[in-house]
Amino acid sequence: MLGYFNRKTKKGSGFIVFIAFLLFSTSKLYAAPDGKALFQANCAACHNPYKDATGPALFGVDTRVPSKEWLHKWVKNSMELVSSGDKHANEVFNKWNKIPMPPFPTLTEEEIDAIIAFVNIPKPEPKQPGGATSAQPADTDNTLLYAILTVILLIIVAVFASINKTLAKAANQKSDIPSPKDIPFYRNKVIISVVAIVMILAFGAWLTNASEFGRQKNYMPKQPIFYSHKVHAGINQINCLYCHTGAEKGRFASVPSTNVCMNCHKQIDEYTGADEHPLISLEGDKIDGTAQIQELYKYAGWDKDKKAYKTDANGNILATPIPWVKIHNLPDHVYFNHSLHVVSGKIACQRCHGNVEEMDEVFQSADLSMGWCVNCHRNTNVQFANNDYYSIFQKYHDEIKAGTRTDVKVSDIGGLECQKCHY
Ligand code: HEC
Ligand code: HEC
Ligand code: HEC
Ligand code: HEC
Ligand code: HEC
Ligand code: HEC
Repeated sequence: MLGYFNRKTKKGSGFIVFIAFLLFSTSKLYAAPDGKALFQANCAACHNPYKDATGPALFGVDTRVPSKEWLHKWVKNSMELVSSGDKHANEVFNKWNKIPMPPFPTLTEEEIDAIIAFVNIPKPEPKQPGGATSAQPADTDNTLLYAILTVILLIIVAVFASINKTLAKAANQKSDIPSPKDIPFYRNKVIISVVAIVMILAFGAWLTNASEFGRQKNYMPKQPIFYSHKVHAGINQINCLYCHTGAEKGRFASVPSTNVCMNCHKQIDEYTGADEHPLISLEGDKIDGTAQIQELYKYAGWDKDKKAYKTDANGNILATPIPWVKIHNLPDHVYFNHSLHVVSGKIACQRCHGNVEEMDEVFQSADLSMGWCVNCHRNTNVQFANNDYYSIFQKYHDEIKAGTRTDVKVSDIGGLECQKCHY
């Protein structure tokens, strides 16, 4: 049981402020299509602006191709351009071992221009070591404040009690009634019961906080491979949905299979970013990224030198699944659905998971308590306009039209009903 919390880190509730800030700064991801979003969704699986990956680095690509029109044609259907005998198209195609780039016929010329403008943003200067963490907001733990308030209240109560007693005594003396004998406070039954109740409550509160009753805010288990989200989703800007495809489709975001890793890592067999972004584990150990990719190859059954999968006598690939340790766990009696929040609710991953693209090792940043879910449902507007899903709420549509209602919160559509979240 204790081992379970081994790698927990305490960062305090200031994190909520931090997440709100991150949400603010990352919510753009889901706004109107822009070059960055389009690049991440369509191109980032194979291209990086500044480094060769499955395809060439795209920074400054518009200056090395014949024309803007050539770029439009290439992105819409590169193979058409190659087979038409275009000189530059054939040069790149041959240089990149004739890997066909998929066609993107639905991208408009404006969208392609936006992508090119995005990849032409000069590479940001690497951050000064240590500078990255200084942005952490101050801890806003209120425990001390509550303790002081409680003490003040207790003093006030004691003062009133003693005034009351003196007054009663004075009144009794006046009317010549003998005062009851003073009982020492430690034998007063009322005081003893009050103190006992307060102590039980305090102990209960301490216990809940200390163990969080199975809740695991900040839980960061050690993973079988030191796989960095910062390297992948941050520095190399791979879209979250490239790996967590389930988040858009249904209940579970799901963790990618080894095949997804090998889409890129058949080519990328070393970590060259150690100077720019050294990898350090929570325990402070220096991690060799290239050795970690070797670990991936062990699970995938990939022979780096032969550039082929190892097989047994029957031709089956010698692969074993990577035993990732699950971080987020809701109790079985709670129902949570990703696509409802990500697609219909348009909530950015970061709002619930924190700034994952800044984390080398992922940890649970929200407490996943019932209060956490319910508070957000009370405060968050549903995307009501032009959403067919909500056509059944005619009353709200009428009220919005009549001007008597400005927004619809999740709680208005039943987001606080017990059976929506509980089986
Ligand atoms: C599945 C992998 C893949 C995806 C996805 C992909 N590309 Fe490519 N791209 C390549 C490869 C590989 C090449 C090298 C040429 C070849 O082999 O066809 C290339 C070449 C290019 C070139 C020519 C570069 C040069 O130096 O002349 C451009 C421009 C380009 N891609 C833009 C894009 C854009 C924009 C997107 C997203 C809309 C995109 N690519 C998505 C794999 C991909
Ligand atoms: C290249 C693939 C890849 C990309 C891109 C990626 N992830 Fe992950 N993610 C993984 C893998 C593998 C794990 C399991 C190992 C771990 O927890 O680090 C994981 C774990 C997680 C977890 C914890 C799951 C649990 O066990 O509870 C969260 C949350 C998460 N990712 C969110 C994100 C977000 C948000 C993004 C985009 C900013 C993202 N991921 C981008 C591969 C990816
Ligand atoms: C409204 C809050 C919320 C949003 C938005 C959200 N998640 Fe989650 N996520 C959760 C909760 C809660 C769990 C735990 C679910 C469980 O235990 O059943 C979870 C679990 C996960 C897991 C663990 C495995 C799984 O299949 O459930 C991954 C990976 C993950 N989320 C990735 C993402 C990514 C990527 C996005 C954005 C595309 C995202 N999440 C958006 C709340 C959220
Ligand atoms: C879309 C391409 C892509 C996918 C998919 C991908 N990677 Fe990577 N990976 C990269 C790039 C790019 C680097 C950085 C290489 C560099 O900087 O030299 C990298 C670096 C790494 C490293 C070394 C740095 C670190 O994070 O420790 C490991 C280990 C790694 N990847 C494991 C994985 C695993 C495991 C998966 C599957 C869950 C995966 N990768 C999926 C592109 C990818
Ligand atoms: C960051 C805000 C946020 C958090 C945190 C959040 N939700 Fe939600 N939830 C929403 C939004 C927004 C919607 C409305 C989605 C839509 O537009 O359909 C929603 C809708 C729902 C619905 C459907 C409600 C209905 O009446 O149809 C369920 C069920 C639900 N959430 C469960 C959960 C659970 C369980 C948790 C906690 C583990 C949670 N949510 C945490 C924002 C949130
Ligand atoms: C928006 C989602 C949501 C709604 C609505 C909701 N719950 Fe919960 N409830 C949760 C989550 C998440 C947990 C798990 C909390 C944890 O693990 O600490 C939970 C836990 C519980 C528990 C177990 C005690 C505990 O703290 O673990 C009870 C009992 C409960 N809920 C009752 C209710 C009742 C009664 C209602 C209706 C008034 C209700 N819930 C409405 C999400 C919800």
